[in-house]
Order: sequence, then C-alpha cells, then structure tokens
Amino acid sequence: KVPYVVTSKGYTAVAINAAAKVGEWIKSRLGTVKELDIKFTPQDLVTEVDKGAEQMIRKLILTHFPDHAILGEEGVEPGPEASAQALKESLNEEYLWIVDPLDGTTNYVHGYPFYAVSIALAHKGEVIVGVIYDPTKDELFVAEKGKGAYVHGKTTSVSTEDTLATSLLATGFPADQNFALPINMVGLQHIAPKVRNIRSNGSAALHMAYVATGRISGFWEIGLNSWDLAAGVLLVKESGGTVTDTLGRPYDLSVRHVVASNGHIHDELVGSLKEAGATGL
Ligand code: IPD
Ligand code: CA
Ligand code: CA
Ligand code: CA
Repeated sequence: KVPYVVTSKGYTAVAINAAAKVGEWIKSRLGTVKELDIKFTPQDLVTEVDKGAEQMIRKLILTHFPDHAILGEEGVEPGPEASAQALKESLNEEYLWIVDPLDGTTNYVHGYPFYAVSIALAHKGEVIVGVIYDPTKDELFVAEKGKGAYVHGKTTSVSTEDTLATSLLATGFPADQNFALPINMVGLQHIAPKVRNIRSNGSAALHMAYVATGRISGFWEIGLNSWDLAAGVLLVKESGGTVTDTLGRPYDLSVRHVVASNGHIHDELVGSLKEAGATGL
C-alpha cells in the first residue's frame, strides 16, 4: 500500500465535488423517475435515481480514497434493524464515509422541491467533514470539525430564540408507521401548542442545515439513520448549536431519535418530549 497524506481540505473538496455533481444530476432527472419501488413500508420509497446517485458518489470517493469505507443508505438492507447492524459493522473503520445520496425521496417523486445530497466523513467514529447540497436552491452547506460551518463561503450560525414560545421548529413524519410515526405524532401534539409554529418539509438533512443557518430554531425526529444526520450534526455543532438524542444525551452515530437546536431551547425541547413520553427511548 502506498501511504498518502491528505489534509482535511482534501476530504472536504472531494465531498463538495461529489455532492454538487451528483446533486445536479439528481435535479436533471426530476420528473423522469421510471422505477418506483417500496422498501420497508409502503411509505418508504426508492427510485433508480437514489441508486444511481449512490453509485456515482461511491465511485467519486473511491477514486480519491480507495481504502476508505462507505456506508450508503441504498447499500443497506431496508429497515431499522439492518441499518443498525450495518452501522455497527462499519464503526471500526478508520475512515468511514456516510452517504445519503437523496434525502427527501418522497418529495423528489412528487416534484416537491426540497431534497438534498448528504455526505459525511467520520474518522474513528467522529464526523470530521459534513456536506449537504440542495440542488433546487443551489445551496451548499459545508462543515469541518473545529473549523466552523459555511454556506457558500459565509459562516453559518444558529438562531437566538431562547424559549419554545418564540421558536420555529421542524419535525418529520417517519415512514416507519409502526414505531416511529406514532411516537412522533405524540410529540407533535404536545409541542405544537407551545411553539410559534412547526414545519415539516420532508428532508431531515435540510432541516438540520436549516437549524445550522438559524432559519429554524430546532428540529426533532424519531427513527432516523446515520446517513440522514451525520453531515447535519456537524453543521449544527460547528454553527454553535446542540445535538443530542431525545433524552438529551450526546449524539453519536448510532443515535436514531434526535433533537437538534440552537442550544438555548434545547433543554426545554428535550423536556417537552420527555413530558409527552415521546422520546422513543
Ligand atoms: C427521509 C427524510 C424524511 C424523514 C424520513 C427519512 P429519505 O429520508 O429525511 O424527512 O422524515 O424519516 O427517512 O428516505 O428520503 O432519504
Ligand atoms: Ca430512503
Ligand atoms: Ca434520508
Ligand atoms: Ca435517501
């Protein structure tokens, strides 16, 4: 093996290149979907565009880093157990790329313009690069561990609201209708009357990027996976925000029930989920 040295900039450049290129390709295929399949539940969709995008991203990463490992959503058997197992098996890799080739497949299928490519790189289990690209708005969100987060070169920072009452939140309606969705509905019912308002736009990655840029005050969802979150978590943290599980414990890659916020409202939001019995934990 020939050793090579790459700075974090090298990793970031590859992540940006892959997210931007593949994001443009995804956008160019909008409205052309031919193979619409279901995965774990009838609400859990996948198309040839999801699969093609993941193949392209894999190829771009492996061209530069042939001995790095890649955990991509479409390379994993559907369902929460298989996903948890795939992550467990990947966690001892020194360099692990965590890829959601198309976050917001349901939106994409319906032509609702809110979907993204999410690419993260973890070193020994810790995310060091996170990139999310929204091809609709041509917005590129980039975070590097210890170096801040940016959208098109401009530093991002979380919002300043310090009560739920003045907060704009986001959540999701998970495709897992047996477990995650009912719990999230309980949380929603409890939290909605306490906040300024709630949005649900169907891309966890973009919701995280919107917490990072201060466009929303916080986000929570039950039943996500590492590929939905890894890049967004670094974006939120590097923008001054807080990310934990729904019990308020520090985020790690195995967390599936997540709370991300500007930090100021974090305890109140976690407290409300606990009060409602809607943590999923
Ligand atoms: C989904 C989106 C959605 C969230 C689901 C995710 P996918 O990812 O992030 O907003 O509610 O739980 O699975 O399947 O479109 O990549
Ligand atoms: Ca999916
Ligand atoms: Ca996703
Ligand atoms: Ca996806």
